[in-house]
Amino acid sequence: GTPATVSPTGVATGAPPISKAQQGDFLTTSTGTRLRDTDHSLKAGPRGPVLLQDHHFREKMTHFDHERIPERVVHARGTGAHGYFIGYGTAADVTRAAFLAKDVRTEVFVRFSTVLGSRGSADTVRDTRGFATKFYTEEGNFDLVGNNIPVFFIQDAIKFPDVIHAGKPHPDREIPQAQSAHDTFWDFVSLHTEAQHHTMWNMSDRGIPRSYRMMEGFGVHTFRLVNAAGDTALVKFHWKPKLGVHSLTWEEAQLIAGVDPDYHRRDLYDAIEAGAFPEWELGLQVFPDTPDETFAGVDLLDPTKIVPEELAPVQPVGRMVLDRTPTNFFAEVEQSAFHLGHLPPGIDVTNDPLLQGRLFSYVDTQITRLAGPNFNQIPVNRPHAPVNDMLRDGFHQQAVHGGVAPYRPNSLDGGNPFTAGADQAAFADLPVTVTEAPKVRASPASFADHYSQVRLFWLSMTPVEREHIINAYTFELSRCYHQEIRERQLQCLANIDPVLCAEVAAGLGLPTPEATEPVADVAPSPALSQVGQAWPPD
Ligand code: HEM
Repeated sequence: GTPATVSPTGVATGAPPISKAQQGDFLTTSTGTRLRDTDHSLKAGPRGPVLLQDHHFREKMTHFDHERIPERVVHARGTGAHGYFIGYGTAADVTRAAFLAKDVRTEVFVRFSTVLGSRGSADTVRDTRGFATKFYTEEGNFDLVGNNIPVFFIQDAIKFPDVIHAGKPHPDREIPQAQSAHDTFWDFVSLHTEAQHHTMWNMSDRGIPRSYRMMEGFGVHTFRLVNAAGDTALVKFHWKPKLGVHSLTWEEAQLIAGVDPDYHRRDLYDAIEAGAFPEWELGLQVFPDTPDETFAGVDLLDPTKIVPEELAPVQPVGRMVLDRTPTNFFAEVEQSAFHLGHLPPGIDVTNDPLLQGRLFSYVDTQITRLAGPNFNQIPVNRPHAPVNDMLRDGFHQQAVHGGVAPYRPNSLDGGNPFTAGADQAAFADLPVTVTEAPKVRASPASFADHYSQVRLFWLSMTPVEREHIINAYTFELSRCYHQEIRERQLQCLANIDPVLCAEVAAGLGLPTPEATEPVADVAPSPALSQVGQAWPPD
């Protein structure tokens, strides 16, 4: 038998590459026939009707008619850049991932985005920003699909459709694009109070970054690492921007959204073209892999909680430089597809219920968005590691697979023996113990604390940052038309901090409610303030 031969890109060898520039001396049809005229349709006489036989007209028009693909269901608005990552070798104690070894250089692609706006929406709205990185490692792709805010609105993925329905434009009027003037958003976050932490980050200056180059990035979830000896550790991923964290003021953001809605997109492109390559350091907060998966009283499986950096310092493990802009936005940015399950050996998931649900959602949506199951063959998604899978056929299949036996082991495609478990370099699922527990639709008791870390964030802010937060809540809630929703959100603020609550209530002309639970006794975390922060820290 003939061994299966697949090129490293997963695409059949021998086919000539599709012209990048699609330029040349001759204009042709999509099948290579040279054309004489592309400006006149074929007619029955110069004044006559157009003939159905005009293949060139029909091909040109049909293709145009199908140029659009669905935008992402969330994070539709974004931009991207290529670059590289260099490992420091400082993570060897905790992970065997090869791309983190000293001086290993790995190509990367990053897509930055807003969450709620549609593809053509303005860049400087108040929103969370996506920060998705694809590392084309020699052990396969690693997608770190993060945000610029270290916590999330919900603790269980099953609520994701709900929180997005509440945040997207109202179904009747299709306004607005972001969180301002939004009754459903405030209704959701005041009823599902675990969302209060993420919401305060949105109301802070972090919700209106000055530039994608000046944002932190967070993996949010806790991941599990495994080193060469098989020891495991729990970890949170952080990106620290070399330029520091900077924001716009609300007034600047509003003006820019009108004058230059492409502001962040332009800023990234212009900086890279000018040679001012943005840079981030990748850092790890490492925690012991204890049975309760808790550190300093924080349940590490709860994605609405951070671990203050004062308690678990961020340890630098490598740096990323973005030095190349896309040549074609559609091919590189729109067609990029990230997934949390793209993990190299040495990095694994945890039982965080938000993370677990994301593992399902991304591929599922991409099958619709990119029309079929073969989107990992699209150039921007192809790994730089060799591919030898048993996936066959399907819409938009680009590979011409050799061999006759896409199953392992087999006795027909000789030279490709496969013994389960024999490849020591392969990704190995960690034999994490799953506790004997009844099947339930429930959360752990530790997920019930929805206010203490919101207070921690508030107490960590400088006076000017607090003023911005008060103004943001006041402005946004003043655009909320339902009195009961405003009052319910004020009630949440009362449980966070009495001063914050009183200021916002005064701004809204409403009475200040009493807290319904004792305000938490927490110490501020100076690292949460973006004022006067430098990276690396002194
Ligand atoms: C994009 C689902 C939580 C970061 C998306 C997309 C879906 C999705 C369906 C569109 C993907 C595509 O069309 O290719 C979910 C679900 C979540 C969740 C179900 C929770 C249960 C999060 C969290 C983060 C995050 C916690 C950050 C840590 C992103 C980013 C993108 C994205 C950055 C844009 C990726 C790109 O640039 O193409 N998400 N998401 N998501 N999500 Fe999530």
